[in-house]
Amino acid sequence: MIYSTNIMDYEKMIQSAEQASQNAYVPYSKFPVGACVLCESGNTYTGCNFENSSFGLTICAERNVVGTAIANGERKIKAIAIFSPNKLNCTPCGACRQVLNEFKSDGGLDVITKTENGIKVYTLDELLPACFDL
Ligand code: THU
Repeated sequence: MIYSTNIMDYEKMIQSAEQASQNAYVPYSKFPVGACVLCESGNTYTGCNFENSSFGLTICAERNVVGTAIANGERKIKAIAIFSPNKLNCTPCGACRQVLNEFKSDGGLDVITKTENGIKVYTLDELLPACFDL
């Protein structure tokens, strides 16, 4: 491992996710979401959800940020923080869990949310048991 993470890093990631949620384009649901990923390189990236008048074309914050990380050459994601001002403990939807699974680091992938008592850390394996893999 060329990086180390601690709860302080995860708290900062939640703050970055909160900032990113302010750029969400959500005229239809009015449900902003922001996400921040930490990659094995040590780099972090942020993303938000963006909707479309053809509702099914909506992109979740998590898939948006994964795309940004991939476009920057990353392949292994160590953690993702997710924030919505509308919902505490905003965990990723099923589709995003599968997309995150594709790029989880060898040590796994932590999913960080904000709760009334601070942050909560899940593992992706716990949120997506018996996942599909080729
Ligand atoms: N959304 C996300 O960005 N991430 C999730 O994990 C769940 C849902 C977005 C999609 C849509 O823009 C809004 O939240 C309401 O579903």
